[in-house]
Amino acid sequence: MTKTITVLPGDGIGPEVTGSAVRVLKRVFEKNACDVQFVEKRIGGAAIDTDGTPLPRDTVEQCAASDAVLLGAVGGPKWDNQSMRVRPEQGLLGIRKALGLFANLRPVKAFAPLIGASPLKSQYVENVDFVIVRELTGGLYFGKPSERRGDHGEKVVDTLAYSVGEIERVVEKAFRLAERRKKKLTSVDKANVLESSRVWREVVNEVSHRHPEVAVSHLLVDSAAMQLIVNPGQFDVIVTENMFGDILSDEASVMTGSLGMLPSASLRKDKVGLYEPVHGSAPDIAGQGKANPLAAILSAAFLLRYSLDMDHEAGFIEKAVLQVLERGYHTADLKVAGEQTKLVNTTEMTDRVIAILDEIFT
Ligand code: NAD
Ligand code: IPM
Ligand code: MN
Repeated sequence: MTKTITVLPGDGIGPEVTGSAVRVLKRVFEKNACDVQFVEKRIGGAAIDTDGTPLPRDTVEQCAASDAVLLGAVGGPKWDNQSMRVRPEQGLLGIRKALGLFANLRPVKAFAPLIGASPLKSQYVENVDFVIVRELTGGLYFGKPSERRGDHGEKVVDTLAYSVGEIERVVEKAFRLAERRKKKLTSVDKANVLESSRVWREVVNEVSHRHPEVAVSHLLVDSAAMQLIVNPGQFDVIVTENMFGDILSDEASVMTGSLGMLPSASLRKDKVGLYEPVHGSAPDIAGQGKANPLAAILSAAFLLRYSLDMDHEAGFIEKAVLQVLERGYHTADLKVAGEQTKLVNTTEMTDRVIAILDEIFT
């Protein structure tokens, strides 16, 4: 049966990096004679321009009828006017919510050739291998009430709301992941201040009874931000609230050498998932061929692994990315040094990855 992947390029460098990821996927499907169709739909600022909304209904319907979704990024200065009621980012939040993708996996592991590309000393970066499990459809991003300035005089409201069930399902997912890894789970919260965090902690402790082999610890988010820098090697799986996870994952990306290296998978209980790089639309480099496509390409590998049962082929893509870096190819964001390094643009980097994939296949 034909599988369907919906592609949501979005804004800025989004179309550039999803273009790269789709080229890589197409090569994998060709080699394996897979019957997969790609359908492109609008989201974000691009959709505001054409449809007046960041998430047109046909985009949601198409994604809901797909096996997987590949997304670029949304947003940019064109739609950044603070007084605008519709923003590109609402499209991204909306599609995550509409598809029920409550668990966002953001693995952080430095590829060996990029150890020196991080501004952190190499001894801190070498042993880094953890996954941030970010709750994605609740918390501070989705709490009601939410009131804009002007709705009620000068007051504004953002609410951090969770049901116990919403916490439990993402925590359960994190425990299961930890069971398949180093069996260490760190739950990050702000339980010294927030009631929602105190409940989060209780739920983590309750769910831990079902996973006795996993060692659990709790960290306050401010301390976690510090520990990520002074001792990142201590972490295995980190589970946390939506906004905490957003912030900590950009911080953690520094260990991989660039935000342009961090992929993600947004998952629910079945196999349908949305795959996107952690980075944004990078308006400062959009349209210049400078974007690092590797986060999007690695997200495509996750798509194969989690949505299409193609773990083997996902591994090939990851191997090709490692080899392209070993051979010294790098985009401008990767600060690698040495005589063997070769600065390439987005298209050339993608060409190199595909060429290495072809070598791996033969
Ligand atoms: P950003 O992630 O777009 O960029 C931060 C910095 O990292 C920039 O200097 C950028 O050039 C660089 N960078 C990011 N990805 C890169 C890549 N693949 N290759 C090379 N360099 C890369 O964050 P920002 O500048 O804070 O946000 C810009 C816009 O993107 C905003 O509108 C924001 O809302 C949006 N955004 C969207 C997503 C998403 O769609 N998932 C994520 C984050 C930010
Ligand atoms: C991300 C982004 C988004 C988020 C924004 C653009 C809504 O920063 O995917 O990390 O905060 O979830
Ligand atoms: Mn973010």
